[in-house]
Amino acid sequence: MKRFPDNFVWGAATSAFQIEGAVREDGRGESIWDRFTAEPGRISDGSDASVACDHYHRVDEDLDVLSWLGVRSYRFSIAWPRVLPTGRGAVNTPGLDFYDRLVDELLARGIDPFVTLNHWDLPQALHDAGGWPARGTVDAFVRYAEIVMRRLGDRVRRVCTHNEPWCISALGFGRGEHAPGEQSWPRALAAAHHLLLSHGRAVQAMRAISRATQVGIVLNLVPAVPASPSEHDRDACRTLDGSFNRWFLDPLYGRGYPVDVIDDHVRAGHLEDYDLPFVHDGDLRTIATATDFLGINYYSRAVTRSTTVPEHENAPPTVVASGERTDMGWEVAPDGLLAILRRVHTEYAPRRLYITENGAAYGTAPDASGRVRDVSRQVYLWSHFEAAHAAIAEGIPLAGYYLWSLLDNFEWGEGYSKRFGLFWVDYQTQARLPKDSAHLCRHIIRGNTLTSLEHDLARVYDGSEQP
Ligand code: FCB
Repeated sequence: MKRFPDNFVWGAATSAFQIEGAVREDGRGESIWDRFTAEPGRISDGSDASVACDHYHRVDEDLDVLSWLGVRSYRFSIAWPRVLPTGRGAVNTPGLDFYDRLVDELLARGIDPFVTLNHWDLPQALHDAGGWPARGTVDAFVRYAEIVMRRLGDRVRRVCTHNEPWCISALGFGRGEHAPGEQSWPRALAAAHHLLLSHGRAVQAMRAISRATQVGIVLNLVPAVPASPSEHDRDACRTLDGSFNRWFLDPLYGRGYPVDVIDDHVRAGHLEDYDLPFVHDGDLRTIATATDFLGINYYSRAVTRSTTVPEHENAPPTVVASGERTDMGWEVAPDGLLAILRRVHTEYAPRRLYITENGAAYGTAPDASGRVRDVSRQVYLWSHFEAAHAAIAEGIPLAGYYLWSLLDNFEWGEGYSKRFGLFWVDYQTQARLPKDSAHLCRHIIRGNTLTSLEHDLARVYDGSEQP
């Protein structure tokens, strides 16, 4: 039996744009994701998030779903354009009221709120004024953080500034797969810097308002493993690790930007020279402002093969990705979770760690009896719980684990075609149906213990226990 510490925080996570819908209600302004989803060809199933899970109207039902699941904490994001429709200017009171009430209702149910300030839905007006590649957006974000903290900081114990700055900058401005859909690496690098800078400044500003709230940032980290010991694969691995992980971890923990990655960007023509034009005096110190926690979103590892040499010039692979893949095509690799936790702990030593997202896309649909037998997700989750437990047993200060996601929802560029939820969402009726994985999580959270996969799977489903 593997028991988790009594104060271990079991949680579930969502984000505003992915579940709320009601994009034009109660004074909400336009976000870059509203604009992006309206552009033909951007979303694989041609959908948008104007209704999504209709959470804005069904919040009470979703609170009941959380209570049923038994989580001790709920990580949700605040839609910046609901609070400040143009990103600056006057506060839209109904927008802020929605989250204020959500916080109160969570606390009334014994569920601790964990707030994400920026889960990607930047107000479109701010983007039109320059967006993340422009330094002015930093001031706007700090003011937004202060407004939220003044209103909620007396009750919210955990706040993170940004969710996955790598995705915002690299997917949004480099690869063009996410809003705003640009393809310019120089702008992606400037965006990443302003995200980090605004994080540091917002941490300082929020601390000045509430000392009782833990503040931090959430990164998507990917352990990179060379496919062979060849120098080519090791270099490919260094590059991937550098751009995903170290580009963010190094400055956050006081080391500045990694020189080898700057070098990669200079050679690729993304930067003119080693002098990063967007970095001003004092920025790196601000970015390295101490935080209370680091949130890690973990989904998979990357077995890395060089693409710069022909296969026959490379050494034969010694590490091969397992055939187990989720619907995203991501390898199921629970060991990677332990590997990244170890590495972050030994090399950067954050005060506290949370797994702020972990989960899997599988499309398993309700069977004739209405039951969702999502065994693949159950196995995925159980094996990652085990990795989390191993990390704690080694002395890594892992304080909590948040399931991605509470509900099936709008999966960005994939629209509704990928389902990460513990609850099946019927988008016609908006019914929420607990999948077998939800039953498993409920059982494990309640017992705070892993027994064995077979044992836990055998005990979880009891049709009488519906929300
Ligand atoms: C993460 C995002 C989250 C969700 C999962 C699958 O990158 O933070 O919103 O889309 O991936």
